Amino acid sequence: MSAAAFSRQVARSALRTSTRNTFSTSTRHAFRQSGRRFYSSEPPKPSSGSGPALGALAGLAVVGGGYYFYQSQNGSPKVFNPTKEDYQKVYNEIAGRLEEKDDYDDGSYGPVLVRLAWHASGTYDKETKTGGSNGATMRFAPEGDHGANAGLKHARDFLEPVKAKFPWITYSDLWTLAGACAIQEMQGPVVPWRPGRADKEAAACTPDGRLPDAAQGTKHLRDIFYRMGFNDQEIVALAGAHALGRCHTDRSGFDGPWTFSPTVLTNDYYTLLLDEKWHIRKWDGPKQYEDKTKGLMMLPADYALIEDKAMKPWVQKYAKDNDLFFKDFSEVVVKLFELGVPFKEGSERMTFKPTNA
Ligand code: HEM
Repeated sequence: MSAAAFSRQVARSALRTSTRNTFSTSTRHAFRQSGRRFYSSEPPKPSSGSGPALGALAGLAVVGGGYYFYQSQNGSPKVFNPTKEDYQKVYNEIAGRLEEKDDYDDGSYGPVLVRLAWHASGTYDKETKTGGSNGATMRFAPEGDHGANAGLKHARDFLEPVKAKFPWITYSDLWTLAGACAIQEMQGPVVPWRPGRADKEAAACTPDGRLPDAAQGTKHLRDIFYRMGFNDQEIVALAGAHALGRCHTDRSGFDGPWTFSPTVLTNDYYTLLLDEKWHIRKWDGPKQYEDKTKGLMMLPADYALIEDKAMKPWVQKYAKDNDLFFKDFSEVVVKLFELGVPFKEGSERMTFKPTNA
């Protein structure tokens, strides 16, 4: 087992002994320490391209809220009506791959899977009812090539073997299910999920510019997130996802993680935002903030949350209360992943058992 895998396992077993939604200070501290150790300074290895076989997608559709119509490998049409158990199998497969493939970034593909699900969903426009997770149009250029989606091919490629094993699931359902799974497997709250998304063709790609620009402030964040149908509290709750993962100079141009435990969801994003002294980093890159250890960062869009009179109180609430953050984060992520999806009336959300519970 690699040092990274070992340190992650130690941290996880420590976390397992505490209640799922509450972190004791000592547990957090222990995790931060191990989190520091398994930082990787190497850039992610480029993964080999394996896009979807367009032929196989041609007949892929969701009928109503759960029936999938798809073409099997020998070309014959199949109809499959999956049960909750079938989705739990998909969940387990994603969780298993997350556990097994720990050679990426800080030891987990989890953060980039969350980002894939968010970028697939966050293109939604409530006026025109276009975009959103229903379609998985990021499979195609131009959307896959939008600057905001740089690096998400790693997440899409990670999910290809899962798609190959469960060909009946649409990419749109798979990506959002993977987002929910990654949040749960990174010790986050339960994220209820339901199927019903159909894949669309390239013509349904959304125009560039629907996702937020990290260099801007809260006026821009409101323009972007109100367009999806969110309010100020929901914007702040969603931003807490930045407890996870990191920025990459070869993707967004920004650099570094927001927290010391980028593969475990906590409310540390908010506590750090409030408690650390943030300075503008002196470097040959875009404007970003750094803490005094120079190990952590905040984007201008993150820092803007504590400069905004209406948003700061939510940062303070989530910093004080991890349970409140988990509750609100789960609710707002469910809403995000369902934007613009025409679910069958009465379709029920499922909850999946985390593998680390
Ligand atoms: C509030 C507006 C937001 C802005 C301006 C923003 C911007 C960014 C940027 C610039 C990165 C770095 C990308 C890279 O270089 O790899 C990033 C990463 C990330 N974002 Fe956001 N984001 C926002 C909201 C969200 C939301 C709503 C979520 C999920 C609910 C999210 C989840 C993530 C995650 C998990 C990563 C880390 C990805 C990785 O480690 O590869 N972000 N974000």
